[in-house]
Amino acid sequence: AYTWLYQFPLPIPPIKKPKWTTTNPVTGGTIEYYEITILPPTQQVYPGKSPAKLVGYDGFSPGPTFKVNKGTEAVVRFINNSTTASSIHLHGSYSRAPWDGWAEDLTGPGRYKDYYYPNHQAARTLWYHDHAVDHVGNMLREHAYFGQAGVYVLHDPDELGWGLPSGDYDVPLVLSAKQYNSDGTLFSPASETTSLYGDVIHVNGQPWPYFKVEPRQYCFRFLDASISRSFFLFFERDEKPGEKPGEKLEFNVIGSDARLLGSPQKTKDLYISMAERYEVVVDFSRWKGENVTLRNTRGFAADKDFLHTDKVMKFIVGDKPSGSGDTSSSLPSRLRTIPYPPDKSGIDHSFKFERINGKWKINGVSFSDVKNCVLAKPQRGGVWELINGGGGWSHPIHIHLVDFKVVKRVNGRGVVQPYEAAGLKDVVWLGPNEQVTVEAYYAPWDGVYMFHCHNLIHEDHEMMAAFNVSYLAL
Ligand code: C2O
Ligand code: CU
Repeated sequence: AYTWLYQFPLPIPPIKKPKWTTTNPVTGGTIEYYEITILPPTQQVYPGKSPAKLVGYDGFSPGPTFKVNKGTEAVVRFINNSTTASSIHLHGSYSRAPWDGWAEDLTGPGRYKDYYYPNHQAARTLWYHDHAVDHVGNMLREHAYFGQAGVYVLHDPDELGWGLPSGDYDVPLVLSAKQYNSDGTLFSPASETTSLYGDVIHVNGQPWPYFKVEPRQYCFRFLDASISRSFFLFFERDEKPGEKPGEKLEFNVIGSDARLLGSPQKTKDLYISMAERYEVVVDFSRWKGENVTLRNTRGFAADKDFLHTDKVMKFIVGDKPSGSGDTSSSLPSRLRTIPYPPDKSGIDHSFKFERINGKWKINGVSFSDVKNCVLAKPQRGGVWELINGGGGWSHPIHIHLVDFKVVKRVNGRGVVQPYEAAGLKDVVWLGPNEQVTVEAYYAPWDGVYMFHCHNLIHEDHEMMAAFNVSYLAL
C-alpha cells in the first residue's frame, strides 16, 4: 500500500505561455498562438519502486494551465509525440464542431492539429483532455487516466473586478483516483468494462500531497478528472491532543462549470463527480498555525472504498500572510446575473442511460450503432430529461456546446444542491437511480456535438451519442 501520505508537496502545473500573438485582421482583436506536445513522461509514484509511465502534455500531468482572457482568441497546436492517436476536447468551450474533439477525429502519432478556441464565454474553469473513442482502437479511458488532462482558465473583466483571490492564491486542484501494480507502475484500465474506482487519491498528479498555505483566503478550482470516482468532500481541522474529533469546516462555493454562481453558497461539504468543476473559497485565517485536512466521505453513491480513500490532501497553515495584497475574508454577496434561458415547460428530449446485456447504452443505442449516432435535432433552447436506468452506477452526463441550469432531481438524493442550482453547468451527476431535468442554453451556432457519460469507462464503451443543432428563426 501507499504509505507516504502528506509527505510530498502539491505540484502546481506550470502556466502555458503563447508562442506569439497577432492581430485578427477582421476584428482587430488579439489572437494567441500556442504549441503543446503530447508526450510520455514517467513519474516516480512509489519511492524505491519502478516509475509509472504516463502520457501528459509538455511532459506534465496534469498538463500546463492555460490562462486566457475573454475576447482574446486562441489557436493551439497539439503536437502528438506519443504512440497512439488522440483527439482533443476543450471541455466547457463552445468550440465550433471541427475543433470540438469529435471522438473519431484522430491525430495520429507524429502529426499535429491546430485547434481554434473563441474564448468568448463568461469566465470559467475549462479543461482539455483526450476524447478518442475506443472502438477505433484508441482508449480514451487510458489516455485521460495516464495523464492527458489539463486546466484552462478563462478570465473576464467582470469576474476580475470582484477582487477574488488570484495569482498564487487561485489554485487548481485536479483530483483523480488510480490504481498501481505492485512494482509501482500504473495499473491499466484497458480490460475494465464497468468502473475503476482506484485506491490511490491524487491531487495535481501527486498522491495525498500537502500544501503550505498562508492564513488568508484561497480560491481552489476543483476538477474531478478521475476515470470513475466521485467525491463528497469536506475540510476538517486536525485535532490536538485532548480535543474531540474535528467537525466539518464551513467554506463558500463561488463557481461551478460555467464559473461564477449568482451568489456565494456556504456549505460544509461538496459533491463532485467526474468532469465537474467547482470553485471554492476557503478562509484559512481562522486556523493560523494549524493543519487542515481535505477529506472524502465513505460509503456514498456507487463508489468502492479502500484504506485511504477517505483522505485527499493536507493544508499546513502558516502564522502570517506574506506580502501585502488583499487578505480580507469578505466575499461579495452577488457575483453575477445568471443568463437563464426563457422558461420552458415540458420535456424536449429524454435520455435514459443504462447497461443492457453488458453494453452501455443511451436510449438503447451505443455510439457505433448508428452513423454519427445523432439522437436529437434541437433548435436552440430546450429541456433535457436525463435518467439513470439503474444497476448501481453513477453517470455524470456532459452535454457539449451548452450550459445548463439544473432544474430538478428526483429519486436517489432527490435534491438539487444549492451550489448546483446557483450557476450554470455542463456536467450533471446522475447518482444511482437519479433522474435530473436540465434547461439548456446553447452557443450561437449549429453543428453536430456529442453528449455522453463522463465515467471514462462507460464513455469509452460508447455511452455516447450526438445531437445536431440547427437553428430555425422563431
Ligand atoms: Cu470532458 Cu465530451 O468531454
Ligand atoms: Cu456512466
